[in-house]
Amino acid sequence: MNIYVDSKMDESARRRELYQGSIFVYGPSSNALNLCELARNLIETAFHPLNPLTAQETLPVERCAQILADLKPQFIHHPKSKEYIQGILAELGCDLEKTYFDVPRMRTAFPGDYLKSGIAYAFHPHRDTWYSAPFSQVNWWMPIYPVNSENCMAFHPRYWMQPVKNGSSHYDYERWNQESRHNAAQHIKTDTRVQPKPEEPIELDPQLRLVCPVGGVFLFSAAHLHSTVPNTSDQTRYSIDFRTVHLDDVWARTGAPNIDSACTGTTMRDYLRGTDFSHVPNEAVALYEESASTAEVRR
Ligand SMILES: [Fe+2]
Repeated sequence: MNIYVDSKMDESARRRELYQGSIFVYGPSSNALNLCELARNLIETAFHPLNPLTAQETLPVERCAQILADLKPQFIHHPKSKEYIQGILAELGCDLEKTYFDVPRMRTAFPGDYLKSGIAYAFHPHRDTWYSAPFSQVNWWMPIYPVNSENCMAFHPRYWMQPVKNGSSHYDYERWNQESRHNAAQHIKTDTRVQPKPEEPIELDPQLRLVCPVGGVFLFSAAHLHSTVPNTSDQTRYSIDFRTVHLDDVWARTGAPNIDSACTGTTMRDYLRGTDFSHVPNEAVALYEESASTAEVRR
């Protein structure tokens, strides 16, 4: 596994490397800095007059969940968000005609036990491919405020090649959208929504925690086992992530190897073309659609 810093590698070669588990880290770019600034403005308005990094010290958890339930969609659907993502993709060599992205998410990780479910879900070790992501999906992750090794995210590289017993066979993306996604804010203390999790003990070490500056970004395959680092700092972590697929790889059905994912459904309808925000062609999406009942027969 390789970690490339500010690599000038051609984008198609970069995808090949990503599909083999490599990680790419880039220093701040102007569009990424703009996206982070937009996010900070929305966050600071939402938590005003509290400092959003320490609001949890005085803010009742129910109120915090409510603020996030308003704030996160505001960021996701802000017209400038998509524009800055286009800029980031272009700056980092992506062909916008063939690169499709999903809307950026804002994530929060609070210190200690404060709000870990629902709207601020603390991700246990998982692969996005357990959640119906295609194997060509690339994840992009960036901090909104400075982070350190105590409040970032972690990779668990040994599991790139090592299958994990997991609950993905019970996960269907279409069903999840219909039943569970929209009531995230109701899950304040515990999260009863069924999500694919490891079903055997995971050795979290060795783990890799990448710390990049605000405006920096790192790219990794959706097939990497990764998790939210338990926040042992005294400040809330705010981060942005979004995902991309390249149409050539979608058609070719190439990507990282599938070693243990058995979910059904596909996130393929979520991605928007870098130029005009159109969806992945239906014929291409159809290559990834498998109903839960068909999968049952296969299993
Ligand atoms: Fe993830």
